[in-house]
Amino acid sequence: MIRVLIVDDITSTLDNLQKLLGFEDDIEVCGTASDGRSAIEEAKRLRPDVVLMDVNMPLMDGIQATEQLAQEVPTSPVIIMSVQGERDYLRRAMQAGAREFLIKPFSGDELIASIRRVHHLEQKKESFLTAQAPAAAAGPETGRRGEKGEVFLVFSGKGGIGKSLVASNLAVALATETGAKVALVDLDLQFGDVGVLLNLDHARSITDLVEAGGPVDGELLDQVLATGPEGIRVLLAPISPELADLVTADHVRAVMEELRRSFDFIVVDTASHLGELNLEVIESATKVIVITALTIPAVKDTKLTLKVLDSLNVDHGRIVLLLNRSDAHADFNKDAVEQNVRFSIALQMAHDPRVVGNAVNRGTPFVTLAPEAEISRSVRELVSRLVPLEQSLTVVGAGTSERKKSRLFGFGRG
Ligand SMILES: Nc1ncnc2c1ncn2[C@@H]1O[C@H](COP(=O)(O)OP(=O)(O)O)[C@@H](O)[C@H]1O
Ligand SMILES: [Mg+2]
Repeated sequence: MIRVLIVDDITSTLDNLQKLLGFEDDIEVCGTASDGRSAIEEAKRLRPDVVLMDVNMPLMDGIQATEQLAQEVPTSPVIIMSVQGERDYLRRAMQAGAREFLIKPFSGDELIASIRRVHHLEQKKESFLTAQAPAAAAGPETGRRGEKGEVFLVFSGKGGIGKSLVASNLAVALATETGAKVALVDLDLQFGDVGVLLNLDHARSITDLVEAGGPVDGELLDQVLATGPEGIRVLLAPISPELADLVTADHVRAVMEELRRSFDFIVVDTASHLGELNLEVIESATKVIVITALTIPAVKDTKLTLKVLDSLNVDHGRIVLLLNRSDAHADFNKDAVEQNVRFSIALQMAHDPRVVGNAVNRGTPFVTLAPEAEISRSVRELVSRLVPLEQSLTVVGAGTSERKKSRLFGFGRG
């Protein structure tokens, strides 16, 4: 049962919402309130699973109440309901910590889907926290170099910002720089570009794993994975967008678990969507690489992304903020972005249309096509951030090839 507290100062709205939710088997209205202040009192008393919150109310408005609830009853996530024309509230609501924002009039289906989604996410968050606790207690040593592979997820709220480019080059650079076993997963299930970026035969994809039914074992995975440059193995997106819906969060979890058993590093390219699939991977990701750019929409989306990651309790140490096209002509610079999103940029990548265009057209990663280009150096720098040298057996004074070898021994999986 999802226990819902409804807050609205208009009695007829309260009644309608209550009736509407009354039809759902998995939802129970556990209480109502008609202003922000009593909403907080009721939430403290009832500990609802979800709070439905109006904005304009007497005594204390819904935004303030949401802010206070986030502090005092953090286990009760808030969905804000607001009418058209109050769009400025969207930003304020996000800042206050609201999980979703429903614009009135909304349909019953939208409302119910939103409640279920928010509740589901909250449950995930809690189970994630409990799962994390013992690992943290065991100390960083065991957490870092356990038997399972590390997951690097590349994300951005924006499309066309360079996620696929970074993900594919990062995977290849990880393989050349560390000699480890690397897998690349294209989770942009509808319009995945990894296949064309690496010029791979699209005969098999993640859909083959789903259609096989049953558990994902290493043998099946081996048949489905394409082989890319430098021996990296690639799990491609479905050949056609409508097949994307076949893949569920459960599938993704099973696939990631199996991949983590057989690979040292798994790089995941994503679609610009914070849905269930990406959240599934974010939970187990060692690092989340967030890509931003010197444009207002990109900065806005980065801010929202960082906020959502924060609400999922992804601590700052797990986030790597990468500024792509850092040399682009813009009215503001890196410092302004950092100030605005309140997060430091770990790495910058230059705009290099010549090298990138050439690489993309040939279906070859630029890190191998033009290893000395600045943009390739940036990717190698990203590798050393993700996989610090001391993690492997460094041989002091050895040449590059020696160093690679020693890293290989540091990571080898027999
Ligand atoms: N630093 C860069 N220099 C030159 N071109 C870039 C750079 N970053 C991205 N691009 C180009 O921008 C386009 C979008 O990149 P892509 O990785 O497909 O974005 P996303 O996966 O985020 O949608 C691609 O054509 C890519 O070649
Ligand atoms: Mg992409």
